[in-house]
Amino acid sequence: MKILLLGKDGQVGWELQRSLAPLGELVALGRHAADGLCGDLGHLEGLAQTVRQLRPDVIVNAAAHTAVDKAESEPELARALNALAPGVLAQEAKAVDALLVHYSTDYVFDGSGSVPRLETDAVAPLSVYGRTKLEGEQHIQASGCRHLIFRTSWVYAARGGNFAKTMLRLAQERESLTVIDDQWGAPTGADLIADVTAHTIRQVVRCPQDAGLYHLVAQGETTWNAYARYVLAQAQQVQPALAIQAREVRPVPSSAFPTPAQRPHNSRLDTRKLQATFGLQLPSWQQGVTRMLHEIL
Ligand SMILES: NC(=O)c1ccc[n+]([C@@H]2O[C@H](COP(=O)([O-])OP(=O)(O)OC[C@H]3O[C@@H](n4cnc5c(N)ncnc54)[C@H](OP(=O)(O)O)[C@@H]3O)[C@@H](O)[C@H]2O)c1
Repeated sequence: MKILLLGKDGQVGWELQRSLAPLGELVALGRHAADGLCGDLGHLEGLAQTVRQLRPDVIVNAAAHTAVDKAESEPELARALNALAPGVLAQEAKAVDALLVHYSTDYVFDGSGSVPRLETDAVAPLSVYGRTKLEGEQHIQASGCRHLIFRTSWVYAARGGNFAKTMLRLAQERESLTVIDDQWGAPTGADLIADVTAHTIRQVVRCPQDAGLYHLVAQGETTWNAYARYVLAQAQQVQPALAIQAREVRPVPSSAFPTPAQRPHNSRLDTRKLQATFGLQLPSWQQGVTRMLHEIL
């Protein structure tokens, strides 16, 4: 099996380089690819040429315009990368009969209510990022290519910056932290997303009827505030020498930290379809976060 991976250096892309390697021949491209290949989502003709040249069995697109606030002031770029590029990849996947794997987001929903969203629930994005990611999904679905689209949320990885690292740094500098407590979701490790991707690719290659749209997040739910408190408490256990100064993590509403992009309050995603179709059991968000803390501390 030949696999073309785009966005190899992002949080999910980096973990995919590991999880996809045993599946076959992996061609992993970043934004600045070489050898006559193009991994730049902004270069639609180059992307199409690359697929035609490689004729992969599977295309995995982990690249995206993920700067949610910046997208509000550069909607055309966000649309090019999040909507038009997946559309081209889908057309080319269809032409060479490849399976296209793509990632989307809880931001396609408006975040109302408190119930975990199903794949069939109505979408109503609040931001440019959410709208362009939704359009990307729609282009893929309309193309008729075999596809796996995973909507995920609150992605973190041990590599690079993340929310937990920011909280740990601030907690060593300040006596009190202030973190919002009115957005609910599940922190989801890039490693989990990558591992599930590999499992599902293997199954869909054998059972094409299992292709489609799935919600993929760790089990359970929390707020950013409770997530921060969990990180600090676990960090003290993992690394007792850590000089945590913060004695409290004060809860505030999202309105206390105005941002250009509006974010959903309810990012809970129902993962029963994924677990039932692929016979998987998604671990709790705490398990992944604790593991990440062991890696970074
Ligand atoms: N992060 C989250 O919390 C989250 C939540 C829900 C869904 N998702 C989705 O999950 C997927 C993976 O996200 P992630 O967290 O791994 O994102 P990430 O760490 O920000 O990685 C995105 C990657 O895309 C690359 N990229 C940006 N513009 C590009 C271009 N023009 N051509 C090629 N590559 C380009 C970036 O490269 P540079 O570093 O060079 O910019 C980066 O390597 C995305 O589809 C995202 O929308 C993420």
